[in-house]
Amino acid sequence: MKNMKLTDHRSGSLRRVGALLVAAIALGLAWAAPPASAAEPSLGDESQACQKCHDKPDITMKTQDGKTWPLTVSTDAYLKSRHGTTDCADCHEDIGDDKHATEKPAVKSRRDYALKLNDGCISCHKKHVTQFQDSVHAAMLKEGSDKAPLCSDCHAVHTLLNVKFHKPVAETPCLKCHEDIGKAYVKDVHGLERVAKGKPAPICADCHQAHAIKAASFGTALKDNCLACHKEAVAQHKDWLPNTGRHFEAIACVVCHAPNAERRVNLRLFSQKGQKQLIEQAGVPRFEQLVKAADQQDQGLDERALWSLLQEFNRGSGLGDVVLRGRLEVASGVQAHQLAEKSKAISDCDTCHRRDAQAFQSVVVSIAGPDGRTLRHGVDKDVLRSAVATASVRGFYAIGANRIQLLDWLLVAAVLGSIGGVLAHMTVKWATRRIRAKVAAEQHGGPTH
Ligand code: HEC
Ligand code: HEC
Ligand code: HEC
Ligand code: HEC
Ligand code: HEC
Ligand code: HEC
Ligand code: HEC
Ligand code: HEC
Ligand code: HEC
Repeated sequence: MKNMKLTDHRSGSLRRVGALLVAAIALGLAWAAPPASAAEPSLGDESQACQKCHDKPDITMKTQDGKTWPLTVSTDAYLKSRHGTTDCADCHEDIGDDKHATEKPAVKSRRDYALKLNDGCISCHKKHVTQFQDSVHAAMLKEGSDKAPLCSDCHAVHTLLNVKFHKPVAETPCLKCHEDIGKAYVKDVHGLERVAKGKPAPICADCHQAHAIKAASFGTALKDNCLACHKEAVAQHKDWLPNTGRHFEAIACVVCHAPNAERRVNLRLFSQKGQKQLIEQAGVPRFEQLVKAADQQDQGLDERALWSLLQEFNRGSGLGDVVLRGRLEVASGVQAHQLAEKSKAISDCDTCHRRDAQAFQSVVVSIAGPDGRTLRHGVDKDVLRSAVATASVRGFYAIGANRIQLLDWLLVAAVLGSIGGVLAHMTVKWATRRIRAKVAAEQHGGPTH
């Protein structure tokens, strides 16, 4: 804008101001400029040779997938970047000279080329590569995904500035691929705090990490992260929410803090002794096969099918300690990023502790896939209700969350005959004889809660 006015010939006074400004800027520059003797940043000889061709604006090539790949690398931007002191050949090891310009090496696609260079970052950034290798994205790459990000999808290697400068939300690399989540995030408490108020509320990588990103609903890392920033949160909830620990375990924070989100019950296959979610082995899709076979019409697993599924995994684990552990969560990744201010959070016990509460109208059973991402299948919501003793928590039934509930469930399954036949009944009785004896003893001894 200013420049346009300065060249406006109708305005003499503006021009004089402009001339003054120019003089002032020139003076400022003279002050700021380093003494002429200081070494200007410059490229090494080999890299300079590359730039004879690659600093040109119109250099491109056709990759085998038919796309045109722009091959320009601006020397100016490169020298200003954090890699400005790095030689081209440090990363492009296979390209020593300009022969590749005429010998036309075949390149399948830009992605394929970048993939080949991805591991090379390790020679200078071991820590970040190691962290990345432990991520859900890297696991997807191993499985052959062509959508998971490479280092260079998140970092523009030839022009990257210090990551600390990359703070505007729109420049977060995650948005390229998780666009819907980004849109939700900018409107939620953290996004607004950051975007509208310019305050340092968490952005994607602060909650998920930048490199060792794990699947979102796996483990407790994300929740622990919330609590690491909101140190007072546990105490504040304790003021009004009885048994806060239990609630925090069985309910994802967003279930109450994204008040308009759809909720659902996720029955997670859990190893009780290991205190861990079960993980499906790569290349052995048992979960999918079993649920598909049990639910050919795709109407949701009924009680009986769920029971068999549990047994299958118990047999498979060899430990017999697999249970289903209920967790309330929101129905989509977008909704997980719609946190509202605290006055809108759900505090009404009735929202959940009543029959037919919305949260219990949708039920899934799940296992962690080989890369940690959740594999789910629909479950008939009546399985939550069919259990007799939902005593303290009407409407919600965290199967296997403790031994009494597991027992109830097993007994109900058996008594209703839904697992079919006397034999199964006997098996269940035998398998649970010790727990039942214990429970009976406890019940004689008074209330268990
Ligand atoms: C004489 C000009 C010239 C020089 C010098 C040159 N390149 Fe190239 N470069 C090209 C052309 C032309 C292509 C496109 C080749 C094609 O169409 O197949 C290319 C392609 C590339 C590609 C795309 C991938 C590939 O393998 O084709 C990369 C990366 C590359 N050059 C890097 C470099 C580096 C690094 C140097 C210096 C070590 C360098 N170039 C030197 C002209 C040059
Ligand atoms: C830190 C490692 C690194 C350095 C240093 C580096 N490159 Fe690259 N370069 C890459 C990666 C990774 C890609 C693939 C990026 C992509 O396209 O997704 C790439 C791609 C290219 C391409 C293809 C066009 C593009 O941008 O995708 C050219 C041409 C190229 N580099 C030339 C150069 C030249 C010339 C230099 C030195 C002036 C240089 N590179 C320095 C890592 C590097
Ligand atoms: C999914 C996106 C993503 C991928 C993939 C990714 N990074 Fe990063 N990286 C980031 C973000 C975001 C930051 C900034 C982190 C922050 O602000 O804490 C970052 C920061 C960095 C930094 C600077 C760290 C620091 O603490 O100063 C380095 C170096 C780096 N990444 C290297 C790599 C390498 C090497 C790879 C490939 C193994 C890689 N990154 C893959 C998103 C990514
Ligand atoms: C030959 C060594 C070398 C290689 C290989 C290399 N880098 Fe770097 N990288 C550097 C140097 C030097 C810096 C400057 C900052 C520093 O000292 O860490 C840097 C900085 C970075 C930063 C910014 C860190 C910050 O502090 O803001 C990122 C991101 C990054 N590199 C990504 C990559 C990626 C992605 C690759 C692989 C495609 C790669 N680098 C390969 C040497 C290298
Ligand atoms: C180049 C594309 C790309 C970029 C960039 C990218 N991701 Fe991803 N990410 C994916 C894909 C594809 C998946 C698997 C499909 C899905 O879950 O959306 C995925 C999965 C995930 C998951 C696991 C989802 C689950 O089901 O539990 C998380 C968490 C995640 N990304 C976070 C991030 C964060 C944080 C960033 C930025 C630091 C980022 N991603 C950048 C492509 C990308
Ligand atoms: C305040 C912390 C926080 C921030 C900031 C955040 N997330 Fe999340 N993210 C979460 C939580 C919590 C979940 C859901 C975990 C669960 O299922 O309980 C989640 C879930 C996800 C998922 C999995 C979605 C699915 O389909 O299950 C992806 C992908 C993801 N986030 C990416 C991002 C991206 C990209 C950004 C930045 C725009 C971002 N997140 C910002 C906390 C955060
Ligand atoms: C059963 C619903 C529920 C669950 C689950 C829940 N919250 Fe809350 N939370 C609330 C309500 C309601 C308030 C507002 C209380 C008030 O205004 O005093 C609140 C307040 C907060 C506040 C603001 C505290 C303050 O006074 O400044 C934070 C931060 C918070 N919660 C974080 C979390 C985190 C982190 C989790 C998960 C570990 C979580 N909440 C789980 C309902 C819940
Ligand atoms: C990196 C630190 C950080 C992390 C991680 C984080 N928050 Fe926050 N959170 C903030 C900041 C900063 C604010 C805005 C200032 C404030 O109200 O405390 C905020 C605000 C909130 C509020 C609004 C409080 C109010 O007063 O209205 C809620 C609710 C909340 N966060 C919940 C969560 C949940 C749930 C998670 C995990 C999924 C989480 N936060 C992760 C830093 C964090
Ligand atoms: C967002 C849904 C939700 C809200 C809101 C909620 N609860 Fe809960 N509550 C649950 C779930 C789920 C469980 C855990 C069930 C389990 O693991 O067996 C639970 C467990 C409990 C328990 C422990 C029962 C036991 O077996 O130890 C009590 C007591 C309880 N809630 C009371 C309350 C009260 C009082 C309020 C209101 C101040 C409230 N809850 C708000 C969902 C909710």
